[in-house]
Amino acid sequence: MADPLVTLAARLQPAFDAVAGRTGVDPVVRPSDRADAQANGSLALAKELGRPPREVAEAVLAEALKIANLRATLEVAGPGFLNIVVHDDFLADEIAAVSSDERLGVRSATPTRRVVVDYSAPNVAKEMHVGHLRTTVIGDSLVRILEFVGHDVIRENHIGDWGTPFGMLIEHLLDLGETEAAEHLSLGDLDGFYKQARAKFDADDTFKERSRARVVMLQGGDAETLRLWKLLVGLSTKHFNAVYERLGVLLVDDDLMGESAYNELLPQVITRLDALGLLQQSDGADVVFPPGYTNRDGDPLPLIVQKGTGGFNYATSDLACVIDRIERLNADLLLYVVGAPQAQHLSMVFDVARMAGWLAEPAQAVHVAFGSVLGSDRKMLKSRSGEPLKFIDLLDEALVRAEASVAEKNPDLGVEDRLTIARQVGIGAVKYADLSTDRVRDYVFDWDRMLSFDGNTAPYLQYAHARICSIFRRAEIDRTSLRNREPSIVEPQERALALAVLGFDSAVADTLEKYSPHRLCTYLYDLATSFTSFYEHCPVLKADEATRLSRLVMCDVTARVMATGLGLLGIDAPEQM
Ligand code: ARG
Repeated sequence: MADPLVTLAARLQPAFDAVAGRTGVDPVVRPSDRADAQANGSLALAKELGRPPREVAEAVLAEALKIANLRATLEVAGPGFLNIVVHDDFLADEIAAVSSDERLGVRSATPTRRVVVDYSAPNVAKEMHVGHLRTTVIGDSLVRILEFVGHDVIRENHIGDWGTPFGMLIEHLLDLGETEAAEHLSLGDLDGFYKQARAKFDADDTFKERSRARVVMLQGGDAETLRLWKLLVGLSTKHFNAVYERLGVLLVDDDLMGESAYNELLPQVITRLDALGLLQQSDGADVVFPPGYTNRDGDPLPLIVQKGTGGFNYATSDLACVIDRIERLNADLLLYVVGAPQAQHLSMVFDVARMAGWLAEPAQAVHVAFGSVLGSDRKMLKSRSGEPLKFIDLLDEALVRAEASVAEKNPDLGVEDRLTIARQVGIGAVKYADLSTDRVRDYVFDWDRMLSFDGNTAPYLQYAHARICSIFRRAEIDRTSLRNREPSIVEPQERALALAVLGFDSAVADTLEKYSPHRLCTYLYDLATSFTSFYEHCPVLKADEATRLSRLVMCDVTARVMATGLGLLGIDAPEQM
């Protein structure tokens, strides 16, 4: 366990237990501005024992002094806190342990779980919009973090590739001719294609009839119809893949698990619900009434699983999806990285799945919801022409803007380096801006802010990392030779940096506790600011030999935590900028 606060909590535990006269008292060790940390467990314990908190804290302190290897100085403060100052040599030991550890002190999860992460999920023949940016970036980071701590992660890209619109889309494809349609779609103009089909559908009754008949053929498994459908899906996924590649996310074709994949399971959802006696009729549709949902008039709200016409819908496929993930994949944690507007839909689906016994402890489903991306007018982000912003255009713009700012920061870079770094910085900036705000909140998309080399931004963190790499280029030293060396922690900035480095394990754990990558961002930002003040106060290359080596150990481990942490966010850490 690398985080000294976690270690200290464990070491202090017997002192609390002794005073309590029972085992398992939580010392409640938290970071603090007054000292390195504070143990606040005396407060709850005082209540339990009916004694004044300060007196309890004094008693705990007396017990703690008997602990041989505490390696921290304690002092009673305030109403009964214990201020903790960690000993320098303890920090030094812990840094050496983290530095020699490939995982940089991050503990493996126990027990590990099989986790399905449902993310990205754009719709076939529809443009990806900025909402898909959020799910893609947040989901991808969660996948990386879950894998890093050892969970067995299955990525699922639940694309919208099934349902009634495909009738009109296929008919439109036939009208255009396959080659022409392919050209149209391969330009990435998915929305244009969809809109044309929609317009014909609304204006032309024979087209409407053809579309309806086509859906029936599609669902009936007609070979030629399926071929045309596959063509459409293939053209769209090609476009999605181009976006994923540009964005640098893990999603590949093997992760595609669209709505169509559950087609066979849909009738089963109905028969199983029916056999369980959960199905009811409402306005001619088959529905389930999970308790606790009401509409505006206060009437119970149903989850519709089969329409009057016999068709299935989004809820049916999400129920099938729960069954598939639990029963076929044996997953015990289902994460849905989906926008906040779908909260009620998912909550009802999960409740119905629980009622049916499909989703039962220890298996869990979690809606990892997120807010909207806003323009500077605080309305939904739009392009200049007022159309919804195309995802791919946004990424293009990121590259152009990043190239300009990288060129300004370092005019000596060659063209090739500049382009590579601009890509890392531009994409990193877009991802980081998204990840660094608490996901449930909306955020304002602001190019200047996200590309700034100051503040809580990707370029600032990347620059901190690149700066350390440049120290090593000048130091002419093999970094790996530093990895089992103990630094000496003397200056306050060295202590602060050591504590920051050692907090990596907790930061990762906190991030997963709420599936909130912004916690990792906040941590990395603190690490970068700690490094900045360390570097300002503690000369590295000009110091005497022993100090120089000690500080190089701190530089190396800081850079590795930074690069690893950025990697967990899906962001590259260039070695020069
Ligand atoms: N395709 C949907 C959309 O674009 C998102 C699907 C999310 N996943 C799910 N299992 N419902 O809104």
